[in-house]
Amino acid sequence: MKSFKALVLRNSPTFSAKVEQIFTEDLPSAGEVIVKVDWSGINYKDALAVTNRGKIVRGGFPFVPGIDLAGTVVSSTEKTFSVGDRVLSTGWGLGESNWGGYAQYQKLPAAHLVRIPERLTSKNAMIIGTAGLTAMLAVMEIENGPIKKTGSFLVTGATGGVGSFAVLALADLGYHVVASTGKASSEKYLRELGASAIVDRSELSLGAKVALDSAKWAGCIDSVGASTLEAVISQTSRHGTIAACGLAGGSDLKTTVFPFILRGVRLIGIDSNTCPQETRLLAWNRLSELTSKRDLNQISTEIALEDVPTAAEELLEGKITGRIVVRVS
Ligand SMILES: NC(=O)c1ccc[n+]([C@@H]2O[C@H](COP(=O)([O-])OP(=O)(O)OC[C@H]3O[C@@H](n4cnc5c(N)ncnc54)[C@H](OP(=O)(O)O)[C@@H]3O)[C@@H](O)[C@H]2O)c1
Repeated sequence: MKSFKALVLRNSPTFSAKVEQIFTEDLPSAGEVIVKVDWSGINYKDALAVTNRGKIVRGGFPFVPGIDLAGTVVSSTEKTFSVGDRVLSTGWGLGESNWGGYAQYQKLPAAHLVRIPERLTSKNAMIIGTAGLTAMLAVMEIENGPIKKTGSFLVTGATGGVGSFAVLALADLGYHVVASTGKASSEKYLRELGASAIVDRSELSLGAKVALDSAKWAGCIDSVGASTLEAVISQTSRHGTIAACGLAGGSDLKTTVFPFILRGVRLIGIDSNTCPQETRLLAWNRLSELTSKRDLNQISTEIALEDVPTAAEELLEGKITGRIVVRVS
């Protein structure tokens, strides 16, 4: 096969992230399926990997990052997939321990692939990506809780990838959504997604004032963590569910047991990376349904593979609203 483009991370003599020409024979991953990658995205983890700011790469160097990919099967030794099938992959170590989506061809195990639902385009699948999948898994945990659609449901980091899809999904399902953001200029964006009210990020970022504060939230999807999550735990009402998704504000968590034992607050962890296949398929079908009436281009910016390092810096600087989708092929 002729050569194709990939964003390659190298750590010698110093760290670099550059688009290079590689061959399918260079792809080190084990897998039965070769996918022509059309689209990927930039998630928080990708931004850390590409800028070398976090210990994301566990597969050694050189390395091709990208925790999401969508494309078309070009060869498969596994009967479940045929040439021409539209597929996506997120998690299972993609872009962390296994070479990822920032390459025009990638080799993957069939078990790590999801068939893209019929009415979802490959581009929209990647606008959704890990961020949207995580938000949907969080919504499903809120649905599993005892509190139905009464009261206000908070989304933190609301203009981010996870946050945007959390606002959109909860609002579409009929929840009253309050969006917490550090971007005052994004009120219109958040209201168009379905938020009924906006709170400034600073109202939560100082942490819990007392162990049991006035109860404000019937539930929360949190992608910020640290003092923000501490405040949310103290302000969640009886039997409310908090889905802890991320650490955009930090990973420490200081709390007390009182909200859990006196209010029955449920703190549920979300891990999209190793989410079981059955739940994944359910979530992708729901995301396909949810987004079928939306123009997802309005919540995303399309970039080329060559632009990934610059966009990754911007994402970590908090300058991005919504999702970045990467045109790979
Ligand atoms: N558990 C999982 O499976 C899973 C999957 C995907 C992502 N994540 C995690 O979820 C988090 C968000 O990911 P993402 O892809 O949505 O990232 P993102 O697009 O960069 O969004 C993060 C958002 O958090 C807010 N934020 C940023 N820095 C902050 C700070 N210092 N303090 C408070 N808020 C801050 C910003 O929203 P505002 O400006 O609107 O406040 C930002 O847009 C990350 O920690 C990521 O690792 C986890």
